[in-house]
Amino acid sequence: MHDIEIKNMLSMAADARDRAYAPYSNFRVGACLKGESGAFYLGCNIENASYGAACCAERTAVFKALSECERRFSALAITSTGDELPVPCGICRQVLSEFCGDSLEIVCSNRYDEYRVFTLGELLPHRFGPEHLED
Ligand code: THU
Repeated sequence: MHDIEIKNMLSMAADARDRAYAPYSNFRVGACLKGESGAFYLGCNIENASYGAACCAERTAVFKALSECERRFSALAITSTGDELPVPCGICRQVLSEFCGDSLEIVCSNRYDEYRVFTLGELLPHRFGPEHLED
């Protein structure tokens, strides 16, 4: 990814982060997912008094995109309010793996605008996929 695309997607992810509903953890996350159509889908984490009902920013963005019929993705940027670089949780990695190849680039940025780019293959090697369901 070019630096200008990374900065653009991180800026949109930061806007989404401002809309996070995270009164329990106070850990706010924003995501910007680029579909192969070129459209961008934004997501934030949405928590719940029943803690297990929370949804991560990444899955919010993926499900918004899927519900708009976008099925393939070329890049994901996430940014949090933390000091550490955030990385997608295991559930989000698995959800992404259903629709994205190993080469999906995932830009992870902290509140200081430091970032690092991973691929999905690096974050989720030996993924479980539909081929494992075959007899
Ligand atoms: N969270 C995300 O939105 N994305 C991640 O990849 C990790 C965690 C959210 C879920 C919860 O609202 C808060 O961060 C603390 O776990």
